[in-house]
Amino acid sequence: MSWKKLNHDEIKEIVFSSLKGNISYSEKNLLGVPASYLDEKVFPKDNALLKDAPFLSTMVENPNHIGCHTFGSSESFFSGTHKIEQELIEICAVDIFKSKENSIDGYVASGGTEANIEAIWIYRNYFMYEFNAKPEEILLVCSADSHYSMAKAANLLNIPLLKAEVDQFSRKIDSEQLKKSLVDKKENGTKYIIAVANMMTTMFGSVDDPSDYTDIFKALDLPFKLHIDGAYGGFYYPFSNKESNLNFDNSDITSITIDAHKMAQAPYGTGIFLIRKDWMKYAQTKEASYVEGEDCTLIGSRSGANAVSVWMILSKYGPYGWMEKIFVLQKRTDWLCEQLRSRDIVFFRDKHSNIVTIDSKSVDHKIAEHYHLVPDNHNDPKWFKIVVMDHVSIDKLMEFLTAIDEKRD
Ligand SMILES: Cc1ncc(COP(=O)(O)O)c(C=O)c1O
Repeated sequence: MSWKKLNHDEIKEIVFSSLKGNISYSEKNLLGVPASYLDEKVFPKDNALLKDAPFLSTMVENPNHIGCHTFGSSESFFSGTHKIEQELIEICAVDIFKSKENSIDGYVASGGTEANIEAIWIYRNYFMYEFNAKPEEILLVCSADSHYSMAKAANLLNIPLLKAEVDQFSRKIDSEQLKKSLVDKKENGTKYIIAVANMMTTMFGSVDDPSDYTDIFKALDLPFKLHIDGAYGGFYYPFSNKESNLNFDNSDITSITIDAHKMAQAPYGTGIFLIRKDWMKYAQTKEASYVEGEDCTLIGSRSGANAVSVWMILSKYGPYGWMEKIFVLQKRTDWLCEQLRSRDIVFFRDKHSNIVTIDSKSVDHKIAEHYHLVPDNHNDPKWFKIVVMDHVSIDKLMEFLTAIDEKRD
């Protein structure tokens, strides 16, 4: 196990000594990089606050984590904090997603959108480089409930997109319909599949069964690569459903996106991309020759403070503290569902999820707007969602339910 619970002093000690492992812009001759510490007139380095604040200190020191640090070589200037990122990737891969030790590469991306596009970019290049595939022969398959980053990826990478229909109430993929569509696509030139299965969708928190996709690809003899979009659910679902097969134990899965800036309450800019070893090379950009180790990420320069923040959060909780955090949110969500049921309000909830999506016919739209429930569509809402985050307490949920009761009286 790589994931250990640490106290504040231990975390501080590790982060400050990692910063010492970087080449300091102020203390060493670092003449050739187009970067420096944060502007001292605005962010003074002698601010007393920083002494006790490893994350803010890392922000001010401003290490660049350009590239991927889990394989090959990286910029040596910032090797101290790169090591923290390596540890973070290993914790996510081994302790959360059941990989073998040192078998996963990854990096802290700008967010779920980038991590999803990185995966699809890698697999598109794989089919193009290894099989001479034309972009139009590579089909991106996801579900109607998938995040819109799939549409962005298909558009940017110039490959066609097929969204599998889902049942309106169970949000499950319609396998029969998907099979028919794929038979048709195959007859019309599709030769390779990039599939993305959801580990908690944006609007419903629904979870795909990856075999709903892979059984069909196998039956139709279509070569495929499978990515998991756990941007929302990656720090939740593995803890709420111990039986989950959305992890590296499942040999059909090659890569996973998990966003720390959602359920892990980390700063924005902390999407995490994980992929089995030997795949990052398909995004290696040889033209990045001035970067030591070149670059196989989509983003280029990125803040080392982001990786440090997620590592700090996970280290402060430890694995059991994290389990407890998710347990509390699950219980709160159970409570909310009971309350809705007792009022005959129609909603969808996957039993392992903390998203509750209410049928718009069941709730007064003015109340939904007042409590900032998020609609599926701002012009014509069919659903409104509640996301039971840390700040969404039972007190706050009770206010919402009372408003519904008062409206009915
Ligand atoms: C399931 C899912 N995937 C991807 C994303 C995109 O994440 P980001 O906004 O960090 O790019 C989101 C965002 O809500 C999401 O819910």
